[in-house]
Parts: sequence; structure tokens; C-alpha cells
Amino acid sequence: MNAPTNEREALTHLELVLRQVRMEAAGINSYEFVDPEGNELPAFTPGAHIDVHIAPGVIRQYSLCNSPEERHRYVVAVLRDESGRGGSRGMHETLRVPNRVRVSVPRNNFRLSDDASKIILLAGGIGVTPLKSMVHQLEAESKNYELHYCAKGPEFAAFQSELEGMAKTGKVHCHFDGGDPAKGLNIAQLLQTPQVGTHVYYCGPGGFMEACKQATAHWPADAVHCEHFKAPIQKVPAESSGTDEGYIVELAASGRKLTVLPDQNLAEVLQQAGAPVETSCASGLCGTCKVRHLSGQIDHQDFILDENERQSFMTPCVSRGCGGTLVLDL
Ligand code: FES
Repeated sequence: MNAPTNEREALTHLELVLRQVRMEAAGINSYEFVDPEGNELPAFTPGAHIDVHIAPGVIRQYSLCNSPEERHRYVVAVLRDESGRGGSRGMHETLRVPNRVRVSVPRNNFRLSDDASKIILLAGGIGVTPLKSMVHQLEAESKNYELHYCAKGPEFAAFQSELEGMAKTGKVHCHFDGGDPAKGLNIAQLLQTPQVGTHVYYCGPGGFMEACKQATAHWPADAVHCEHFKAPIQKVPAESSGTDEGYIVELAASGRKLTVLPDQNLAEVLQQAGAPVETSCASGLCGTCKVRHLSGQIDHQDFILDENERQSFMTPCVSRGCGGTLVLDL
């Protein structure tokens, strides 16, 4: 039996029931999880994701795409990726109604700004999922926003009619390119002139992310927000980032020192030593392993922390010390 809602708020994981699977577009299913006894679920904010335990050792992060006002369900949408690591295939092939599924409580690395005067949302394909939860919130608060939803064609655009129905005021724009990005939205033109108070949020596949990154390069860094659902392939591996000598990591609480060899992963070294470091994506994408650092130089290799956060935090699943001693708040 699940604990009452107020007790479960402190938990890190939940056992939920898969109540519904719906086909939303070509290759895209949505999955609705509810409490087995109908209790309220921990609240989430727009842009949040959950870890879904698909099979033993197969844990994936999926953005919540329903309204944050809903407390009775979590909804995620998954594009089946034949060339992926198997998580999306597992979701499509093995999860069935009414399976019990272990999920994490929601975490958010992709938060909406409270003080933006306008929000521009840019979705590429399945990247619409975190942005859809933002649209729910922005609509509920009558905020100034626009969503540009880019896809190959309507048959590939999950939630298109729901989004258009929600934003009857012309705030949702769909751009279908037939598979040729040159025929789609001109992102550089759209974002040519930064507007004071306007924040940009984008999420989508690699090429789309790169186009958005280039188009926002001249915008103030704190007005641009993105979420990757895969590590960009051009990222330099941590092993080749100038840490040939290895380094020492010190656990501040005990003063214990551990040696991290050049080919060792910091999160694994910490876990083997019994330090309380959880991992999930192991790719610098989800923030599960985030830990505060107190001193030492760091080679940050994640895709979620901004420059401000990196002053205080690091993600040891992909990031590491740059020689010498790295002191962590553990
Ligand atoms: S485990 Fe996901 S960022 Fe480290």
C-alpha cells in the first residue's frame, strides 16, 4: 500500500500503475501513470521529468507533458528510436496496461522563468514534451508566449490538436518541413533580435538543438534555456580533457581521500566508496548525481548546469577534477 500523499512527498520513488497507453503520432506513444489507490501524486513544475524503470538496469528520463495542475497522473510521451540504447523500444514493447512501474518523483532542470515578460518555446519533434507542460501553465496564467512546433509532418506531431485547441489565440505555430529542415522554420530569423525580458526555451533532436544554439548565441545567456534528451555527439569525452594524471577527491564530511585514476568515472569511484551519490542517466542530462563542490578545479561535461550553478555544483557521472584535490560536500 502506498503511503499517504504528505508522507510520499519525501520519497524519491513511487510504484505507479500504467493506466493508459495512447498512440499520439507515428512512432510516438504516451503513457499515463497513476497511483494504484487513486492518491494524489507529488506535484511537479513545467519542464520536470521522471525516471522510468523500464526493466532491471534500464532507467530512462522522460519529461512530463501533462498540466502541472493535475495531481492525479503523470503523462510522458516516448518516440520509438530504433537506433537508441533500447529504452524507448522497451517502453513500446514491454510496458502494458495495467503494469506496475517504478518511477522517480519529478525533478526539474528546465524551469520556466518567473520574471520573463515573454516566453518563446521551440519544439523539435518529440522535444515538444517538456514544452507542452509549459504551455499548460502559461495558458493557465494567461502569460505572453508563443510555441513553434517543428516536425516532418502532421502525422509525426504528437499533441498537435490538443496544443492548438489550448491556444486558440494563435500562440501555437506548427512548421512542417517534409524532412528537409531548409523548408521548415527559419530559427535564425525568428531569434534574430533579442528582446529584453524575453526568454527562449528549446528542446529537440541534435540538429534542431544545434540550430537553436547558433540562433541564440548572441542572446543573454540567462535568457536561453534548453534540455537535451541525448548527449550531443560532438561533446569531447571527459577522459581526453587534460586530466592525464588523475586526481584526489576528498569527502568533506569525513575528510576521507580517494584517488581517481584518469580512466575512472568519478561517480563510480564515489559509489564504490559508499558515498551517497545516485545516478540515473549517467550522461550529464538529468541532474540526479548533482553534488556540491567546495574547492578544486572541475572539468564540467554535463548538459544541464548553467555557469552560475557550475560555481557550486558538478555532475560526477560525466564531470571530473582537473588534477590536484577536489573537495566535495559529501
Ligand atoms: S546521473 Fe544524470 S546527470 Fe549524472
